[in-house]
Amino acid sequence: MSQSNSFNRRRFLQYSLIGSAAAALPNFIHAQTIPIKTSASPNFHADVEIEFTAQPAQIKILPQGANTHVFKYDAKLISGPVQTLQQIPGSYLGPTLNFVKGQKVRIFFSNNLSEPSIIHWHGMHVPQKSDGHPMYAIEPGQRFVYEFEVVNRAGTNFYHSHTHELTATQVYKGLAGLLTVTDDQEQGLALPQGEYDLPLVLQDRNFNRQNQLQYPHGMHSRMMGFLGSKILVNGRTQNLFEVKSRAYRVRVLNGSNSRIYKLAWDDGTPLTAIGTDGGLLAKPETRPYIMLAPAERVDLWLDFSGRPVGTKLVMRSLSFSGAMPPMFERMMGGNRSGGMGRMRGMGRMHGGGMGMMTGGIKQGGEFAIATFKVTQQTDDSPTLPKHLVTIPRLLEKHTNNVNKPIPIGLSMAPMSPRINGKSFSMDRVMDYEKVELGSIKKIKIFHERGSGHGMMGGMGGMGMMMAHPVHLHGQQYQILSRNMEGMSQSSYDSVKDGFIDSGWKDTVLVMPGQEIEIIKPFQDYQGLFLYHCHNLEHEDLGMMRQFYVG
Ligand code: C2O
Ligand code: CU
Ligand code: CU
Repeated sequence: MSQSNSFNRRRFLQYSLIGSAAAALPNFIHAQTIPIKTSASPNFHADVEIEFTAQPAQIKILPQGANTHVFKYDAKLISGPVQTLQQIPGSYLGPTLNFVKGQKVRIFFSNNLSEPSIIHWHGMHVPQKSDGHPMYAIEPGQRFVYEFEVVNRAGTNFYHSHTHELTATQVYKGLAGLLTVTDDQEQGLALPQGEYDLPLVLQDRNFNRQNQLQYPHGMHSRMMGFLGSKILVNGRTQNLFEVKSRAYRVRVLNGSNSRIYKLAWDDGTPLTAIGTDGGLLAKPETRPYIMLAPAERVDLWLDFSGRPVGTKLVMRSLSFSGAMPPMFERMMGGNRSGGMGRMRGMGRMHGGGMGMMTGGIKQGGEFAIATFKVTQQTDDSPTLPKHLVTIPRLLEKHTNNVNKPIPIGLSMAPMSPRINGKSFSMDRVMDYEKVELGSIKKIKIFHERGSGHGMMGGMGGMGMMMAHPVHLHGQQYQILSRNMEGMSQSSYDSVKDGFIDSGWKDTVLVMPGQEIEIIKPFQDYQGLFLYHCHNLEHEDLGMMRQFYVG
């Protein structure tokens, strides 16, 4: 879609929200959601004030040759603790934002791009007006003001562009960053801090011979999701980390558009997680590998104690199957990164090219992510707490719709991934998407049977089913059940031990053949809150809907 088209379309959508097409929405929304907030509220006394900008920039990403053109968030602290902003040197990622529970935050966002944009604070429970709903996207040269109190628990979150139909490309070009929250409970645990608390933002990218980012716009590539050939860590190709022989907290964020990781150590040492999307777990969980879908986070406790100087440990993404439609997986061949990888010699594949190929490492392929090298001996390591935080369990009895869960049915219509058979529209909310403020709901996420029509024709059965990471804005939820009975034996065997479902979540990977029940509170803030597939290509193709909480 051309830029001017997308401007016009957005104007139309904003307009139609005020017009008669908005009949489906309660009246107060019209008054509440349209004005774009451009100045600070006098009654909101901020503890932290930040000036944010998004603009084109050039960064040295590849070691040889030209700089790469990117979009970049920059930030300046106007008031608040200095540690609020933490730059990642040499990265296109925005600075890491470090907030403390209870802080009141005001952020001035200026759009210095030549296209509309808006920021969403993924994982944060904030009022609708500060949630970065695409209806608030601002034009070049405009300013938007966010105001919210940090009510989240200690944990690792993610901010990124959420611009209507431009989320995938804007995030791809660099509009993303990490956001941490700490609180008293976490401080009481004496977890690794400072230089022992490391970010690990995982993203895949394709570069052309001039070192510029490549992004396939063809419909097939978008349906299958972008898969790059180069894995970047914290926005850089430098993926060697020198560590001491002690424990680290490593905050892993899957910031990729569509790639799913199966994290593991190369020597078979299991991984220990202390947190997921919504913060610290009740207790550490140890797994042979951990699945991490786009937008999911996992806080790892990486302990190098007792490892002699010179030891190298490689974190890899292991191979797995079942994330892509079956026929697509067969076309990709083998179980290792071979498949498409081998075909790269045939020239860059663009969308149309050879069917659905994107030229990257295939989904479920195996590759190295980062190397940790022990370079210093110490014995000051903290020990892993047995218990972390108390997590009150949300149970069916807390919900008011036990027998009538809200459906989130995932499907792939031709050229159009959908939710409950529908695409996103800014001015529509279905009856089952209207939720009473303060209620707790049971929600069932599943793949719609018979969604195998279209594109690849005549495959029957699982058809076009593929993995979708399903994200709900607003409050974090808990996973009540994950039914994997519909999975094929081989996919099941390749992923079954990698799900950490015991903590607070905001994004959940739903593989083909899986069915997931969650319990989610809708408290504190009324208004429109999005839910969508966090495969960003799917999101931009309309695999997004919204709840009206009121
Ligand atoms: Cu991380 Cu609605 O998104
Ligand atoms: Cu979000
Ligand atoms: Cu999807």
